[in-house]
Amino acid sequence: MIVWLIGLSGAGKTTVGTRLAARLREESANLVYLDGDLLREVWGGALSHDVAGREVNAERISRLCRMLDRQGVHVVAAVLSIFPRWRAWNRENLSDYFEVFLDVPMDVVVERDTRGLYRAALDGEQSDVVGVDIPFPRPEDPDLVLDSSGRDGTPDELVERIVAALTARVTT
Ligand SMILES: Nc1ncnc2c1ncn2[C@@H]1O[C@H](COP(=O)(O)OP(=O)(O)OP(=O)(O)O)[C@@H](O)[C@H]1O
Ligand SMILES: [Mg+2]
Repeated sequence: MIVWLIGLSGAGKTTVGTRLAARLREESANLVYLDGDLLREVWGGALSHDVAGREVNAERISRLCRMLDRQGVHVVAAVLSIFPRWRAWNRENLSDYFEVFLDVPMDVVVERDTRGLYRAALDGEQSDVVGVDIPFPRPEDPDLVLDSSGRDGTPDELVERIVAALTARVTT
């Protein structure tokens, strides 16, 4: 099973993803948490944040997921994921792929500005920011959409919503 969390910077991928991984590990320890940012460091930190660098990162993460998937390892992946092509690849190549879109209004993530990126981008001091100068194509066919502005609940409540959706899917 691959649970793929998509959302803008500040949408809560890491917050929800780490808690979801801990929650799912209560049932099976056979699970790896992959975070797009941490993987950049794993690859050696040389990738840029422009569209080309992001695509290399996206491809590597998807292919790593396939390797783990083939060995029966579950994955929770938290990835900004702006490439419809790699999302489609995931659905085709990963078994039991479950895509969760943390949909949050742009003004909420700008207000959170967890990395200081949006303010800098809006002030013209930072480029390559998704949602500002790099477009964010909304996922076309996610398995679950949750509003992570607080409207659909706290991060822990969102985790429970995802677990419930995963359980419902297994039993149908
Ligand atoms: N309902 C909510 N769901 C998720 N996050 C929330 C919610 N309410 C507040 N937050 C806060 O929003 C922030 C989300 O930041 P987080 O680093 O998880 O985002 P991210 O999607 O991983 O961003 P990045 O792509 O920059 O790594 C956290 O500070 C979190 O506590
Ligand atoms: Mg993150």
